[in-house]
Amino acid sequence: MNMTAQHKGAEIGISQLSKVYHTREDEDILALDNIDLTIERGSFVAVVGPSGCGKSTLLSLLAGLIPRSSGEISIDRETISKPHPKIGVVFQQDLLLYWRTVIDNILLPIEIKKLDIAKYRDHAEELLEQVGLGGMAKKFPSELSGGMRQRVAICRALIQEPGLLLMDEPFGALDALTREQMIMDLQSMWSRLGNTVLFITHGIDEAVFLADRVLVMSPRPGKIDLDLKIDMPRPRKWAETHEDATYHGYVREIRKIFEAKGILVAH
Ligand SMILES: Nc1ncnc2c1ncn2[C@@H]1O[C@H](COP(=O)(O)OP(=O)(O)OP(=O)(O)O)[C@@H](O)[C@H]1O
Ligand SMILES: [Mg+2]
Repeated sequence: MNMTAQHKGAEIGISQLSKVYHTREDEDILALDNIDLTIERGSFVAVVGPSGCGKSTLLSLLAGLIPRSSGEISIDRETISKPHPKIGVVFQQDLLLYWRTVIDNILLPIEIKKLDIAKYRDHAEELLEQVGLGGMAKKFPSELSGGMRQRVAICRALIQEPGLLLMDEPFGALDALTREQMIMDLQSMWSRLGNTVLFITHGIDEAVFLADRVLVMSPRPGKIDLDLKIDMPRPRKWAETHEDATYHGYVREIRKIFEAKGILVAH
């Protein structure tokens, strides 16, 4: 399989997208309010926002895991309403099946879709190699660290070469050092693969470091308050970027929005 293909990322269109949850107490909760968004092919977009603002809801709608209340979602101009093969998802918890080996976890989506597993086995090994887990194919999840398991979950999301990779706080459960390494590795992997990424996070720092564009969401009902273009050269180096005034300017701009909304209180 050609892993160096560029511009194979999908283009995403979201128009007037809203989501209302009906609770068991018969309440209506407006989680997302009329979102309009276009995501360019191959770009890296991060979404930050306070807890409960609708970030996971947006991701679940894009992944086709929950029905939308109104509006449209398209991938490469094709309207979608159910899980789509061009989309791969990584969640905060790795959700690996403990009774399957690493390689069999990565091949799970292929098995579920009844595709030819033999055809994808080499690709799975290649992906493992790329995330630094060459030789780990036969291990079980219980034999791996949290960071390694999350790398396997990323491989599973990438096995079908998705044009869009959705990530919902993928590094939230990791320690600081592992998280830093994963952020760097994600950057190099994305620059090799060229797919479109929607990356949800609480971390303003990782959003600015990784993204071409940071979307800042308001508290519920979720809307996009700020669409900030991050204009810094790539590849971005961790230490250098964290000393860069431009980087800190972007971080400040996002923090200011949170402060203005009373989400971050200055002491
Ligand atoms: N199945 C559901 N039924 C009812 N309400 C829900 C449901 N799922 C989410 N909500 C509500 O919708 C809102 C948005 O939830 P969502 O999980 O998208 O937030 P989030 O931004 O991902 O938060 P966090 O940062 O804590 O993960 C919240 O107020 C939540 O309580
Ligand atoms: Mg969430």
